Amino acid sequence: MPKMTFIERGGTRKEVDAPLGLSVLEIAHRHGVDIEGACEGSLACSTCHVIVDTQWYGKLDDASEDEEDMLDLAFGLTSTSRLGCQLIMTEELDGLVVKLPDAVRNLLD
Ligand code: FES
Repeated sequence: MPKMTFIERGGTRKEVDAPLGLSVLEIAHRHGVDIEGACEGSLACSTCHVIVDTQWYGKLDDASEDEEDMLDLAFGLTSTSRLGCQLIMTEELDGLVVKLPDAVRNLLD
């Protein structure tokens, strides 16, 4: 089973099982990682914003135009920001590391 690591707010690293075919958002929810994902992956929010470790960013498929548009609305956008609901776990991403942004524009609070 592939693994991935979330770096939570405050810097705690959490390594979790990351089943193939699940999105980073779904993996976060399975393990109680605090990513909202208000639209459940339909590219209608930016609450699943994650900052991808620079070593991993280049291994990801390019973001779609719709994802780029939504990312523009995310707080604390960085050059390695992605939407967690659009990152699907593959064998190549075994070991992936993403960081939660310090602030998010949650919709459900
Ligand atoms: S969960 Fe809304 S865009 Fe990812």
